[in-house]
Amino acid sequence: MANRGRILAATFLSCAILPLLASAFHPGQHIPHIPGLLFPGHEGGHLAHPIFSKPEGESDYDNHPTEQDQPAPVDGSGNGAQQPEPTQGGALRVGFYAQSCPQAEKIVNEVIHKNFRKDPTLAPAIVRLFFHDCFVTGCDASILLDATPTGEDVEKKAPHNGIFVRGYEAIDQIKAQLEAECPGVVSCADVLAFANRDSLVYTGVPTYDVAAGRRDGLASLAKNVEGNIPLPDDTAEEMIQLFQRKGMSLEELVVLIGAHSIGTAHCTIVAGRFHDPQKAKLIDRGYLIKMQGLTICQNNTQELPFDPYSQHKMDSHIYTDLLKNKALIESDQNLASEPHANGIMKKLVSDQKGWLAKFVTAINKLGEVEVLTGNQGEIRKQCRAVN
Ligand code: HEM
Ligand SMILES: *[C@@H]1O[C@H](CO)[C@@H](O)[C@H](O)[C@H]1NC(C)=O
Repeated sequence: MANRGRILAATFLSCAILPLLASAFHPGQHIPHIPGLLFPGHEGGHLAHPIFSKPEGESDYDNHPTEQDQPAPVDGSGNGAQQPEPTQGGALRVGFYAQSCPQAEKIVNEVIHKNFRKDPTLAPAIVRLFFHDCFVTGCDASILLDATPTGEDVEKKAPHNGIFVRGYEAIDQIKAQLEAECPGVVSCADVLAFANRDSLVYTGVPTYDVAAGRRDGLASLAKNVEGNIPLPDDTAEEMIQLFQRKGMSLEELVVLIGAHSIGTAHCTIVAGRFHDPQKAKLIDRGYLIKMQGLTICQNNTQELPFDPYSQHKMDSHIYTDLLKNKALIESDQNLASEPHANGIMKKLVSDQKGWLAKFVTAINKLGEVEVLTGNQGEIRKQCRAVN
């Protein structure tokens, strides 16, 4: 009876709220975070997730000075050779807190592991949080801000971040410990970089050094997210261009996309493609049939693992699936179908060690995208607010 009541309530909520959602979810507009809010069940037609549908007349809102007027050509070689270096990575260094807060990396590691014991799915969540921070105005912890001085919507409220990017509470806990140990010293941006490393190591990446010295940004704007975060229906060319704008090559993109070896995607985000006859044609037959069954989405929280066989382990096996048209998200399949990317994947697939070595180099490069250093920005006292 109780269950039945919940289903009825859910159906009612969907019907009542859906039209509202549809009209409210315009690109670039504020999306209220309503805990427990239900998305459509799979009511007949296929699902197009309102949050991830591409905006019409897509525009690039990014007004970061180092990126202005960059046409971002795709030369196919993937070096981004003509791109000016958008990072100031030279200023970062390993052991940055050796004198000022020698316990910093240890504290991050301890607190994050406490969190993993309660919730191992936090590891992929933190990796994604780091990526989404770095691609929007650089690795400056801008994604962590709850408010910005101008009062405009912040990055975490943007459609592409809002509901599914998580891990903020674990970062708060780490920062609180650090402030108790060495107040005002360790930036939230570095906390994210260290926590990202620990998350990757937790999922099987050999440990590695993380250069530090990042400073925290003073602003966070939802409108900066659009155009800087890739979408699950992006074409290979769109992803390659986006990465080139950030100074990252085609090969680095292919290597990093292997992070989809861990974690999950939400049913409502991936379902549409498996029920769209045109798109279904491109998907491996057996996989398609299996996924059609699994993507009758029950609610907005239902998740599906990218790699059902080793969801918690970084494993180059993910490329096997991508090369066989068994991708959970369309963008991954699009990348696997691009000839250069396809060639790179074929090399990585049987080279777990080589892939992880390249992954470490690429993720460290990602961690240096457009960082603030020296006396730029500030060291926040709390990661959710500017000082
Ligand atoms: C380049 C194009 C990319 C696209 C289009 C893309 C898209 C997505 C989407 C749609 C999800 C599922 C979100 C959800 O439903 O909750 C996801 C999850 C994830 N992505 Fe990506 N992604 C890309 C690149 C990357 C990169 C470069 C990294 C890291 C280096 C990454 C790491 C992750 C991780 C770890 C998850 C799982 C999150 C979790 O389980 O909480 N992705 N991605
Ligand atoms: C959503 O659906 C999934 C799959 O049926 C189920 O496991 C989960 O408990 C549901 N969550 C909620 C909040 O109802």
